[in-house]
Amino acid sequence: MAKEIQAGVFIPTVRSGWVHSTNAPHAPGSFKHALEVTRLAEYLGFDFVLSPQNWRAAQGPHRFWGDTVDSIAAAGALSQATDRINIWCTAHISVHKPAAIAKIVASLSEISEGRIGLNVVTGGNYMQLYPLGFWDDMGHDERYDVAQDWVTLIRKYWSEAVVTHDGPYFKADGGILSPRPARRPTLVNAGASPRGLKFAVDSCDVAFLMGGGDAKFIEQSKMAKRMAKEAGKPDFKVMGAMTIIPGETQEAAQALLDHFEAGVDLQGLADLASGYEKNTKGFEKLSASSLAPLGGKDYKSVMPCAIVGSYDNLAEKIARQVNEAELDGILLIVPDYISHLGQLGTRTLPRLAEYGIKCKVGSTL
Ligand SMILES: Cc1cc2nc3c(=O)[nH]c(=O)nc-3n(C[C@H](O)[C@H](O)[C@H](O)COP(=O)(O)O)c2cc1C
Repeated sequence: MAKEIQAGVFIPTVRSGWVHSTNAPHAPGSFKHALEVTRLAEYLGFDFVLSPQNWRAAQGPHRFWGDTVDSIAAAGALSQATDRINIWCTAHISVHKPAAIAKIVASLSEISEGRIGLNVVTGGNYMQLYPLGFWDDMGHDERYDVAQDWVTLIRKYWSEAVVTHDGPYFKADGGILSPRPARRPTLVNAGASPRGLKFAVDSCDVAFLMGGGDAKFIEQSKMAKRMAKEAGKPDFKVMGAMTIIPGETQEAAQALLDHFEAGVDLQGLADLASGYEKNTKGFEKLSASSLAPLGGKDYKSVMPCAIVGSYDNLAEKIARQVNEAELDGILLIVPDYISHLGQLGTRTLPRLAEYGIKCKVGSTL
């Protein structure tokens, strides 16, 4: 029997997305572009879009993440411009108090008729958060303890008429938020550390892992599934975030990656990394989990686990990761969110069926 997966798109509500090169296509980080990508994703049959929340431009020539549209504000508008696709937005726990985000997301749930989700981010980049007054001066793991209490209280606001809560970090005394969401919003997390993964399993519905064919990714994914099973959460989903560098041929895709590499924004990447290094607490943990996607100190224009291939052979490469890591879903990151996404949606993902994977993308065309 074919394994059914969900497919999503990590939409660039932030300037230049996730290819950090002056030679990369330039996503403007505007609502207009996010809307165009989301409508295309829905047309192609994707199950969800996820939008990030970032608070600081990388100080380099590519100025990636320099212009952004707020992830939560965008979600309301995106939901009004679409009919079916799920829309998952992102919030940092130090930016919003639980009651505020519970109310905002409950409203988004009403606006979207139940299609909303929330990506919970603990935030460990000092330079993203400190300048705006969002830094909480906590250690890496403690921040996840806070996140656990934050989510516990939010879930109470969504499920109980009158909320009283006496948690280690947050309190409520007879709090009433009405109306409550008809369907509980999906909670997702993308923590890469052991503590992050535990938080995802304990408090959320979905864990995103940075995809890659390596043994560590596969082990991490299986571990998350094991933990969810032990916690009595058989419906918990583990999804792989995959950066795809596509081309008409394998050689063309590799040439595209080489072109990006020739313009890699070393200055911007070093600036992003320095934001983590300025973190006064728990840098050891961060250096392992947060800097890993940057490729250690050997900065690359794309994440080290990027999948490079032709529209034809990418189906097999993606399917192999899904099968080996037992993924329940994939989240695509691409350099060009119109042309590359269109080609992958019409030519590549429909072919996952050849490898025993059922995915809605392409089936609605
Ligand atoms: C798919 C995905 C989406 C993410 N979205 C955001 C985001 O919008 N904002 C942010 O500051 N961090 C984001 N992150 C970073 C993670 O929340 C997390 O901090 C990082 O993976 C390090 O894991 P750790 O906190 O367990 O050390 C994202 C990571 C992934 C893989």
